[in-house]
Amino acid sequence: MSHPAVRPTSVSKPSADAAIGLPTVEVKGFHRRFGDVVVLQDLDLRIEQGEFVALLGRSGSGKTTLLRTLAGLDSAEGQSVRTPSARAVVFQEPRLLPWKSVWRNVTLGLAGGDPRARAEAALGEVGLDHRANVWPRTLSGGEAQRVALARALVREPRLLLLDEPFASLDALTRIRMHDLVLSLWRRHAPAVLIVTHDVDEAITLADRVLVLDGGRIAAEERIDLPRPREVGAGFQAIRRRLLGALGVEHAAPGEPRAAAPPPLVPFPVREVQA
Ligand SMILES: Nc1ncnc2c1ncn2[C@@H]1O[C@H](COP(=O)(O)OP(=O)(O)OP(=O)(O)O)[C@@H](O)[C@H]1O
Ligand SMILES: [Mg+2]
Repeated sequence: MSHPAVRPTSVSKPSADAAIGLPTVEVKGFHRRFGDVVVLQDLDLRIEQGEFVALLGRSGSGKTTLLRTLAGLDSAEGQSVRTPSARAVVFQEPRLLPWKSVWRNVTLGLAGGDPRARAEAALGEVGLDHRANVWPRTLSGGEAQRVALARALVREPRLLLLDEPFASLDALTRIRMHDLVLSLWRRHAPAVLIVTHDVDEAITLADRVLVLDGGRIAAEERIDLPRPREVGAGFQAIRRRLLGALGVEHAAPGEPRAAAPPPLVPFPVREVQA
């Protein structure tokens, strides 16, 4: 998909981590409980620089809790959670302030530089620089979500966290958003963690798909299919395994139902002390 007036924002300087090849995210043995309810336990997660990772899991499995932790919105005090400081989040709803114009929403809380120019550059990247002066209420759902993406981009994140960002959009707008996110990812190369309930969305976008279950990453699939991804035999096989990991028996139309999905590669591989 092409977007008018595609203009890159400024180029980030390579960080020290990039120079020495450290992962962007490294979480070890993470625990989170709310009262008596243990949501995440003994969770390990590693995301490489520039890697695009999708996170699936049943409702209530702790996906948002994990994402909020990585965003620094939930406490990880005293635990082993390493993330870059340049990170940004996009939620399911765009969370724009209705009393501020679109460009002021994009630069909210941003210090330094020429905020207006930075906002226009980021809005240009999502094809919305011509809407810089309007009020958020005049935007469609898809446009508002593109503004939320611009607000994330303008922060030049090394880690972009997306929590079901396209869940409330229609099917056609979602496809356009997939193309947009992939083109932004290629251009800026942040590591991305996207939470979704949509297995096809995960397979379409990600280098690696994780399944959160029982408080930890219970399964992973590496997606080596070339992009753009067509729903062929390879795609269907991955979809079946992921649905199996999510506890959903699935068959494509006209296909016999599989009695049990093939086993997934266990993740992470743990060393058990004798
Ligand atoms: N601030 C909180 N206080 C108490 N319980 C919470 C809090 N935040 C989350 N929980 C609980 O933690 C569990 C995981 O919630 P979380 O929002 O992370 O799930 P999720 O996987 O994102 O679900 P969904 O797919 O429905 O968005 C749920 O049982 C939820 O009720
Ligand atoms: Mg959630």
